[in-house]
Amino acid sequence: MPRGLLQLTGVSKRFRRGAAHDRLGELILSGCRRILGRQRRRPVDSFWAVDDLSFEARPGEAVGLIGPNGAGKSTALKLIARILRPDRGRVDVRGRLTALIEISAGFHGDLTGRENIYMNASILGMRKAEIERKLDAIIDFSGVEPFIDTPVKRYSAGMQARLGFSVAAHVDPDVLLVDEVLAVGDVLFRQRCIGRMRELVAGGAVLLFVTHNLEQMQSFCSRAVVLDRGRAVFDGLPNSAVAHYFDALRAQLPADTSSNDPSADAVVALVVKSVEGCAASVVSSEDPIEIDVVLRAARVYRRLAIEIDIRRELGSCLANFSSIRDDQTFAVPSGRSCVTLSLPSLPLGGGAYVLSALLRDAESGRVIADSGFRYQLFVEDGGRPTGILCLPHEWCYTDANALRESQRDDRASRPSPGVLIG
Ligand SMILES: Nc1ncnc2c1ncn2[C@@H]1O[C@H](COP(=O)(O)OP(=O)(O)OP(=O)(O)O)[C@@H](O)[C@H]1O
Ligand SMILES: [Mg+2]
Repeated sequence: MPRGLLQLTGVSKRFRRGAAHDRLGELILSGCRRILGRQRRRPVDSFWAVDDLSFEARPGEAVGLIGPNGAGKSTALKLIARILRPDRGRVDVRGRLTALIEISAGFHGDLTGRENIYMNASILGMRKAEIERKLDAIIDFSGVEPFIDTPVKRYSAGMQARLGFSVAAHVDPDVLLVDEVLAVGDVLFRQRCIGRMRELVAGGAVLLFVTHNLEQMQSFCSRAVVLDRGRAVFDGLPNSAVAHYFDALRAQLPADTSSNDPSADAVVALVVKSVEGCAASVVSSEDPIEIDVVLRAARVYRRLAIEIDIRRELGSCLANFSSIRDDQTFAVPSGRSCVTLSLPSLPLGGGAYVLSALLRDAESGRVIADSGFRYQLFVEDGGRPTGILCLPHEWCYTDANALRESQRDDRASRPSPGVLIG
């Protein structure tokens, strides 16, 4: 009988925007503000934070749940963990569920780390004997041993996350929900958590992993669901999920008014072209490509310089091409023209990247237009992505006999120390 199983069918959750008061204190405060005339009664409207969400995760599946801020990821996890009740649809969970949604959730600040382990683990369904058996392992994994008898309210966010993850991971959950809590842990701890989650998934657990760290998600999850304004806009391979995530992010970018204003300098378009010269949003990491920067100049520029950036996740710059660094500037008339950058190949790992271009007046050094990261490029490397670079390489196997042979030859041909070869 397989272990964990998670199924969501048409799950929806509506929240009120505006004057919703979850706590009595908020209600009283708002009443006082109104009496003092500082706040008018605001109209209350509602919206679907999670809208008709359906998916299933099977035993041994690690599913990423990604999407822009406010897309409804945490709300979805809370619905699965039954912290919130759906307005529509149903959630079916088979097996022991553990959720790590908020860093300090489940902890009592005045209790020590050790006391919190007992409390938290028993809430998660462990018996006293089981907790005692696993106590050392939990403390050991968390790495907060020197502070284990200190009240948790004195812990840093990272220490709380360590303890929380450690307890949750030792409950041996069948379904594990992890919401971004690892982000506050240091890099070594994050790696250990990923290792532990891999073990749990290999043992048949279901993992639902919310993160904004797309690289981590891509290397770890076998599938990903993209949420955008409460709705699942994609469910499939992590690589393609990232492309949909960028689409959702780009839709939130403020409109680029300069490209519509005919009297302004602007990057009108960035067009990636494949070998055949056709515009392509997907390119192979081995093939030559060209990038056209279609620009509009408001006046004549005697020396216009172009810069192009390629980034992953809108984060670290992977490649920057600067015409001025290459001692190239362009004399452009007012109106439209195009500068093309040619690359013999783009040796990037498979996945989604973003491109931007800026125009600089090389005479004054002033940036006159910046496209922002509106343009996306999808690189296909024919396999699962495991890194940012896709370097040309080959493998070779040497058996034991051949290895001995080569070592013997090596010794024979190696000059003895002190002999100078002229
Ligand atoms: N208790 C609540 N009452 C009213 N609105 C809420 C409540 N909880 C969340 N929301 C709203 O629901 C929407 C989804 O929030 P949620 O926390 O699920 O987003 P998220 O995808 O987890 O975002 P992030 O990436 O920032 O963590 C947001 O607009 C948020 O303001
Ligand atoms: Mg969230």
